[in-house]
Amino acid sequence: MINEVEKFWDKEWEKRQKDNKVPQLKKTLRHIKFLELITKNAPKSILEIGVGRGQLTLELIKKGFDVFSIDISDSACKISRIAISNQLGEKYEKILCMDALDIEKLNKKFDCIIGIDILHHIEPLDLFLHAIVNSLNKNGKAIFAENSARNIFLMFGRNHLAGKRFGIPKYGDDFEHPITIEEIKLIRKKFNNTKVYFPEFYFFQKVHYLVSTESIIFNLAKKLDDKIGQHVKWANKYSWLQVIEFGN
Ligand SMILES: C[S@@+](CC[C@H](N)C(=O)[O-])C[C@H]1O[C@@H](n2cnc3c(N)ncnc32)[C@H](O)[C@@H]1O
Repeated sequence: MINEVEKFWDKEWEKRQKDNKVPQLKKTLRHIKFLELITKNAPKSILEIGVGRGQLTLELIKKGFDVFSIDISDSACKISRIAISNQLGEKYEKILCMDALDIEKLNKKFDCIIGIDILHHIEPLDLFLHAIVNSLNKNGKAIFAENSARNIFLMFGRNHLAGKRFGIPKYGDDFEHPITIEEIKLIRKKFNNTKVYFPEFYFFQKVHYLVSTESIIFNLAKKLDDKIGQHVKWANKYSWLQVIEFGN
C-alpha cells in the first residue's frame, strides 16, 4: 500500500508542478484558525507532515518559525525543496522523504506536529498517534487542518458518486477516508487535551467540486456556505472541514 500511495502522490505532484514556485497558502477560515492555533503555542520547533508543494512550510519560515518537513512522496520533497530555496534565495534542505509512521526515527522532539489534509491519509491512525506521543515535547501540540466524515450527504457523494457516476471526478488516493467520529474518539482517548474546531461551513463548495468546474458556481456556493456558517452556527459541525488540536 505504501508504494502505491507514494506512486500516486509522485505522479500527482509532478503533474501539478508547472513553475518552480511555491503556491500561496490559501487564507480560508480553516487555515486562519489553524495558523492561529500554531502561533498561540509559540513553538520553538515544528514538524510538518505531508509538505506537498511547501506552502505551509514557507508561510511558517516567513513568520520566523523553525520548521522541519516530511512527505512520503519523493517528488513532493524535491519540488518543495527547490521551490522554497528559490523563494528564499538560499538553499533550503530541511525536507525529508519518509513515512509519517516513522517520525520517531528522526530521534527528535518537537513543540508542534502539524499538517494540512494529511491526518486522514495516515494508516493505521493509532500507530501514528503513538509516534506523535513519542515525538512531542512536554506540553507540545499536534494540530491538523482536516476534512470530516460527519456529513452524511457529502459522504454519500464521496462514496457512491465520485469517480463512479455521471463523470464526477474523484480526488485523492484509494486508501484515504475523511476523519470519522470514531477516529476523533480514538484521539480523545489517547490525548487528554483534544479540541475540535469547525471554523467555516463548507458544504456547497464541496458539492460544487463534485458537479462543476465553473468558478461562477463556486463563488455562488461559497456565498451560500458563508451565509449559513455565519447565521446557522450549529450547522458548522457538519462542515467538510475541521481543525483538530491535541496534546497532553
Ligand atoms: C492531500 S496532500 C496535502 C499536501 C499539503 N499538505 C497541502 O496542503 O497541499 C497529502 C500529502 O500527504 C503525503 N502523504 C500521504 N501519506 C503519507 C504518509 N504516510 N507519510 C507522509 N506523507 C504522506 C502525500 O504524499 C501528499 O503530499
